[in-house]
Amino acid sequence: MTAIEDLYPDRDAVEASYRRHVDAGRVDTWKLAEMQLVMGDREGPRFSDAFTGRWYVNCHCNGGVFNLGHRNPRVIAALREAMDHVDIGNHHLVSVQRAAAAEKLVDSTGGRLPGVVFGTTGGEAIDLAIKAARYATGRDGIVSVEGAFHGHTGLALATGEAKFRDPFRHVVPGFSQVAYNDVDAMDAAIGDDTAAVILEAIPATLGFPMPDPGYLAAVQSWCRDRGVLLIIDEVQTGLGRTGTVWYHEQESIEPDVVVAGKGLGGGIYPIAATLMTDDVHRFTSEQPFSHVSTFGGSELGCVAAAEVLDIVTEPAFLARVREVGERIGDGLAGGPFEIRRRGMLTGLKFDDPNGGMTAMKALFDVGIYSFFAGNDPSVLQFKPSLIVSDDVVGWLIATVRRVLG
Ligand SMILES: Cc1ncc(COP(=O)(O)O)c(C=O)c1O
Repeated sequence: MTAIEDLYPDRDAVEASYRRHVDAGRVDTWKLAEMQLVMGDREGPRFSDAFTGRWYVNCHCNGGVFNLGHRNPRVIAALREAMDHVDIGNHHLVSVQRAAAAEKLVDSTGGRLPGVVFGTTGGEAIDLAIKAARYATGRDGIVSVEGAFHGHTGLALATGEAKFRDPFRHVVPGFSQVAYNDVDAMDAAIGDDTAAVILEAIPATLGFPMPDPGYLAAVQSWCRDRGVLLIIDEVQTGLGRTGTVWYHEQESIEPDVVVAGKGLGGGIYPIAATLMTDDVHRFTSEQPFSHVSTFGGSELGCVAAAEVLDIVTEPAFLARVREVGERIGDGLAGGPFEIRRRGMLTGLKFDDPNGGMTAMKALFDVGIYSFFAGNDPSVLQFKPSLIVSDDVVGWLIATVRRVLG
């Protein structure tokens, strides 16, 4: 691999190129915030800055992409082995790797969701969930939650905030939004033309508000009574983050569709998946070749996903996530914030409306990379990788207490 210094002599040079050709807004924003960072080396729970060599413990993990740490050795070994034999594969054809990864996903739901459609990104998998729900129900309406985030692709974008849609003149009929945890609003929004309700059980970009007791069960029961499908987006909450493979297990609900992304590729190979009931999946037999994704479920991605699923379904792995989560919860208790936590998914909510943003900068300065919640900047998303050692957990707790306390 070409050394970084042979490509760009310093940070200014790579920033200038990035600014000119890739994304000026990102470069300018980080500079203004005095949080310039270019990822260099990476291993396990941390990564370094390419130019200062300074290490940061990754406590955002790209929303879950790095749940298993950076460059997880098991995922790398599986991919190395696979690269001697396979490549992306061909989406038109039957594939051993795709079938095997699909079976593991299905097993992770106890066989309850036996249909799987692979994609490359979470947004694409959400789009497919909405398409399939409309096909299965013959209805158009999609109800989502205000402040939720399901991606920036076509239909996913329509479920989210207007600030991301309006500049792009993105007008798609059939979508409505209601406040999270507002049972009456949800009840009123589900009508005769509703195909599906789509929710993150714990909306990440809204700052991890926890579902009120009975909220999700009530939504499910209205959906069932009215022939409406329930789509649960587990792109951030899934794959072990909350101490169970899927968060919805803890809420005892049985969604018709579950969407997985981010961590599914082990931080190395992009892949996403939409899991569904047979009824929702029937479009694949009734309308052959009606959905195409050239790179969706690439064979290398499926190898990575199969390895990830082997890891995150191990009972000892999940027990460890729960134990570390408890330790983080206990360790941070008493700080000047409300702790919102399930397993190792933690939000720290401050009274200051920009408290999450301020905390992000303060932690950045001491070597912790975390991120505020985009649709509620009073909340800091604090998500270390799930493979974090006891020593690093201890350091994180002590440092957060010292800096934010
Ligand atoms: C909950 C949730 N759903 C869907 C998405 C979209 O995933 P992607 O960016 O891979 O399209 C995201 C991305 O952050 C997300 O957080």
